[in-house]
Amino acid sequence: MKYYAIIVAAGSGSRMHSVVPKQFLLLNGIPVLMHTINAFHNCQAQPRIIVVLSPDSHDYWNELCAEHNFNVPHQLVSGGETRFHSVKNGISLIEEDDAIIAVHDAVRPLITKEIIDESYECAIQYGNAIVAIKSRDSVRQIKNNRSISLIRDEIYLIQTPQTFQAAQLKKAYQQPYVAGFTDDASVVEQTGVNINLISGSYQNIKITFPEDIAIAEFLLKQ
Ligand code: C5P
Repeated sequence: MKYYAIIVAAGSGSRMHSVVPKQFLLLNGIPVLMHTINAFHNCQAQPRIIVVLSPDSHDYWNELCAEHNFNVPHQLVSGGETRFHSVKNGISLIEEDDAIIAVHDAVRPLITKEIIDESYECAIQYGNAIVAIKSRDSVRQIKNNRSISLIRDEIYLIQTPQTFQAAQLKKAYQQPYVAGFTDDASVVEQTGVNINLISGSYQNIKITFPEDIAIAEFLLKQ
């Protein structure tokens, strides 16, 4: 079985209020994206790693790799306007239909190799495996100007990796883009495929706001 990892890192990070996109910020001395690539490089499946970067950050990334002596093999491809378009560009490099593809946000550097391997194994068995955690908070939904309480035990928060049999993911990404496609599961679900959740981790945080770097550094030191 051939394994792939598409790590999407082409976002501009406008919520971070930082000139440097969040995937390049230093976390314990090395860029966030290097932590993320290392997690996939160190897992048992040994996937071929595809990194999706915005066209204007390829040179900057190559400079960072030289500066940090970062030699983990990976292939670069340019990203697109939204995450959907970036994933689609990553998929275009994969020829096989019988491979397994994990799609992961570059800005989730605390993913563990154990969860990555579990997602590959479950995707082989069930067609796909989407990493998720149960909501710890009570949740309400706003509809027609009223807030309605939802049953907390039925609410899951979705993380990455989101791992699929290649044929399933490729077919789904042939659909035209719609704004509701916020992750890969929402794209694949649209083709009528059942989505399988597996256990993620509360530590698998998404670096989104400036304070998240400090939280990630604390978690890494633990
Ligand atoms: O913006 P959001 O936090 O949802 O981004 C999730 C991941 O998708 C990030 O790793 C980001 O770099 C990536 N992304 C991308 N191309 C885009 C937008 C986001 O690769 N056009």
